[in-house]
Amino acid sequence: MRLDDRKLALLEERIEVLGRRRKDADHTKTYDEVFDEATLMAVYKFVSDGTIRTVDYPVSTGKEGNVFHATTEEGAAALKIYRVNTATFRSLADYLQGDPRFKKVGRTFRELITVWAQKEFKNLTRMREAGARVPRPYAVHRNLLLMEYLGDETMPAPVIREVALEDPAAAYEEVVLSMVAMRKGKLVHGDLSEYNLLWWDGHPWVIDCAQAVPLDHPRSDEWFRRDVANIARFFTRLGVNASSIRLEARLRAV
Ligand SMILES: Nc1ncnc2c1ncn2[C@@H]1O[C@H](COP(=O)(O)OP(=O)(O)O)[C@@H](O)[C@H]1O
Ligand SMILES: [Mg+2]
Repeated sequence: MRLDDRKLALLEERIEVLGRRRKDADHTKTYDEVFDEATLMAVYKFVSDGTIRTVDYPVSTGKEGNVFHATTEEGAAALKIYRVNTATFRSLADYLQGDPRFKKVGRTFRELITVWAQKEFKNLTRMREAGARVPRPYAVHRNLLLMEYLGDETMPAPVIREVALEDPAAAYEEVVLSMVAMRKGKLVHGDLSEYNLLWWDGHPWVIDCAQAVPLDHPRSDEWFRRDVANIARFFTRLGVNASSIRLEARLRAV
């Protein structure tokens, strides 16, 4: 399928950043970096099949992904658009090799990034089922992942490190409960820290789950210990009695 004028016109109507790119140089940059033709086709699929109504504004522009505020018929949603380049290619492969769920990993960037988005979708599903507080995944296609939006119309949920927590000990216990659930789901997050916890609705939410691996991945234990150390360090700094040795033992006993 090619992106003809009719399709582009629909996208410009529904994707705020596309409509504005003609008028505004800053948006042209975001547009060019994120919305290559293949990505536009993927967004077109979601718009034309009714999964997405609009894509409104960027919430975050990160190293490997951009997250946009979007809407569906049901309300707000977060659209994560993965980008891939040579720099991230190798590290993605590390997490995919050894994960029996993704034996047949493609060799091109495009194939790899598709698998990566699917991996985050599956990880979010499995973590939620196990009881971890993660955004509900809605849909995945190519390099796009649509999920529950944390935040409201005035602002996206802040990262936990930027929040003055009223009760850090209670927040810690809730993070631990999500870690217990992930362990029950036999997954190791692999990039857990105060940078990948959002604070919303009075609770900590675990995000950024693409790199999570099953317990039988050859490096899962190394990544598990790193997650535990990060969380214990962050909450210890906030005055919580969070020993990484005790946390590790508690999680291993799950
Ligand atoms: N479901 C969501 N709702 C609201 N904001 C989100 C959501 N998911 C991610 N974000 C925002 O986007 C940022 C980047 O998302 P993340 O999944 O951590 O990707 P990466 O760190 O790989 O770029 C987060 O720090 C957060 O600010
Ligand atoms: Mg992140």
